Amino acid sequence: MNLASLLPRFEAHVATQLQRAEQVLERENLELLAIHSGQIKRQFLDDMDYPFKANPLFKAWCPLDDVPHCWLLISREQRPRLVILQPDDFWHYQPPILQADWLHVFDVVTIKSPEAIEQVLPYDKVRSAYLGEHVEVAKALGFEHINPDPVLNFLHYHRLFKTDYELECMRHANQIAVRGHHAARQSFLDGGSEFDCLLAYMQATGQGENDAPYGHIIGQNEHAAVLHYMVQSRQRLTPGQRHSMLIDAGANYNGYAADITRTYSAREDEFGELVAALDQVTLALIDLLKPGTRFGDLHALAHEQIAKLLYAYGFVKLSPEAIVAQKISQVFLPHGLGHSLGLQVHDVGGTMLDERGTNIPPPDEFPTLRTTRTVEPRQVYTIEPGLYFIDSLLGKLKASPQAKHVDWQRVDAFRRYGGVRIEDNIIVHRERNENMTRANGLN
Ligand code: GLY
Ligand code: MN
Ligand code: MN
Repeated sequence: MNLASLLPRFEAHVATQLQRAEQVLERENLELLAIHSGQIKRQFLDDMDYPFKANPLFKAWCPLDDVPHCWLLISREQRPRLVILQPDDFWHYQPPILQADWLHVFDVVTIKSPEAIEQVLPYDKVRSAYLGEHVEVAKALGFEHINPDPVLNFLHYHRLFKTDYELECMRHANQIAVRGHHAARQSFLDGGSEFDCLLAYMQATGQGENDAPYGHIIGQNEHAAVLHYMVQSRQRLTPGQRHSMLIDAGANYNGYAADITRTYSAREDEFGELVAALDQVTLALIDLLKPGTRFGDLHALAHEQIAKLLYAYGFVKLSPEAIVAQKISQVFLPHGLGHSLGLQVHDVGGTMLDERGTNIPPPDEFPTLRTTRTVEPRQVYTIEPGLYFIDSLLGKLKASPQAKHVDWQRVDAFRRYGGVRIEDNIIVHRERNENMTRANGLN
């Protein structure tokens, strides 16, 4: 935990977690949830390991997002127990967890080896459930209930409602990411390559690639059209070659994510105007994100807005209504408007109607939409409309009957920019929205 001032909110957060866990234990007639942080994975035929990422169900309870072989044992009878591995290991750094100022909310148990968890767990596990990634470990330990769906659905459904502690962590994550975005923009304007911009971003955030909640997306020119472009070219483009940059990069604070995108034009030109216009679309859609709104309806409104831009900029010679009806806007905006954000960048539970996990499928016309839930206070969403010039999708459009509605010369002139996305992170309150990204000074 990075801030002592967060402690009271952390204590309340753990109390909320406990309430939720007790409710689901009772409902499922279970006595124990054993939540495993995870294990290190070795690379094939190597003595090196993959970067470790903690089980999100584990880091929902405490800010240990990089410590394997830990467990949380949650029952209705006892205070929550945190089992921490403390090996005699002179090869690797042992983080000083036992000095952490938040440990008092748990009963702490230390084990010397991963296998020693067996002595801490109850012998009879008929009413114990394992929550974690390592099914083979759970079976070897004798668990009968392994990631039971009713338990996962319950926890995932409620996870969308953030506690005050979680909201504060996400504000901090945004603050850190915004520092990185300022630095990366400056690097781009100074002629930096994609990789230079990545280095500037990581230096400003103080977070390396494995700390970030997702791979940094930094695409210059046509690379901005690759939605999840994570290559980072080392090539420094000349002023004449350099047209645009899209950077989608986040940060992590106590295990909580920021997920922010900005797009820049290298000069004042029509693409710069398109970026400014999309920025206005983003802000207008954020204003419509309100309790009671269905996220799917907002996504449909985003397509109306994108269709208006396609018409206004002369890319498509049809009315905005017809552009949406003929699915032409989906060629230019092929992803969902946004998603729930939290312990994971694409937080789970975004398509759940209730705590039993009833699925709300995306509407037929927008199959890629991954968030269909009704918006409520304490939820956190990204809003991230985009408008891209993606060769493969444009190729299909060109081969379709709709091709005649497109001004191909105009479209071709914009391919070198790749595309635009603007992404902010929003807390929904009952009376207002809190745009954490803008509040931290990123416009
Ligand atoms: N960075 C991935 C996304 O925006 O969803
Ligand atoms: Mn993003
Ligand atoms: Mn996102």
